[in-house]
Amino acid sequence: MIDLEWLTTQVAGLVRETGVFIAAELGKVANDQIETKDKNSLVSYVDKTAEQMLVKGLKPLLPGASFMTEEETDQAQKTSSAYTWIIDPLDGTTNFLHQLPCFAISVALAYNNEIQIGVVLEVNRGELFKAWKGGGAYLNNNPIRVSNTHKLEDALIATGFPYIDFSHFDVYLPVFNHLLRSCRGIRRWGAAAVDLVYVACGRFDGFFEGSLNAWDVAAGLLIVEEAGGSSCDFNGGNAQWFGGKVIAGNKHINQELKNLFHTIPPQP
Ligand code: IPD
Ligand code: CA
Ligand code: CA
Repeated sequence: MIDLEWLTTQVAGLVRETGVFIAAELGKVANDQIETKDKNSLVSYVDKTAEQMLVKGLKPLLPGASFMTEEETDQAQKTSSAYTWIIDPLDGTTNFLHQLPCFAISVALAYNNEIQIGVVLEVNRGELFKAWKGGGAYLNNNPIRVSNTHKLEDALIATGFPYIDFSHFDVYLPVFNHLLRSCRGIRRWGAAAVDLVYVACGRFDGFFEGSLNAWDVAAGLLIVEEAGGSSCDFNGGNAQWFGGKVIAGNKHINQELKNLFHTIPPQP
């Protein structure tokens, strides 16, 4: 039986070390060191090196576990283990490259398809969020809870605008349009992992975004859940854990957002 609390502490230490590297590179990446993976999807040696540091440090913690990582370090090594580390070495790469102060490291551990551990470090403020299944959620070792906001009109909502994949725009835009007029405000922070942990500690009341990957959300969603919040996909189902269309919030606001996606018709 794995001691999840102990393992989370080890992961948190490794993530903090990797955060020191990322922080030291801020403002140092030259234009010719930036690659374009896809339109509007950037990467540099910082993402890749951070990922290698994480993979190297995680391997001995759980020998045989496989890796699902954004920059594909060690992707070839598929193992028979039921454990998978899910890693985004730098969430908010565009912010980082533009020297905007919101970017994070996100590491989760799945056992089969269930997330057991989530660690997110918001690098600039040095805020480390962590949770393990059944163990609660913490910010710099202090327990955190989601907000108690009941109504959308009192809610501050985070989102991520579509910028590569516009296939869900017909569903996203009418809800966005409605929310502009019916909630306290909408923020586009630029790092989904940070959006989620800010929901977990009550800074945001809810979050929704349409085209995410497992490494963007796996850690943050567990932290939201362990902080007393909930999440779902745009259809109110349970497909959010490995990315795609994600809604999260305190239980009231998650329900409100889910209702909007259910009731507002798509606009082609
Ligand atoms: C992105 C950020 C962004 C979100 C995108 C993600 P990356 O991750 O989380 O906020 O809108 O969907 O892909 O590429 O910076 O790791
Ligand atoms: Ca990401
Ligand atoms: Ca990334």
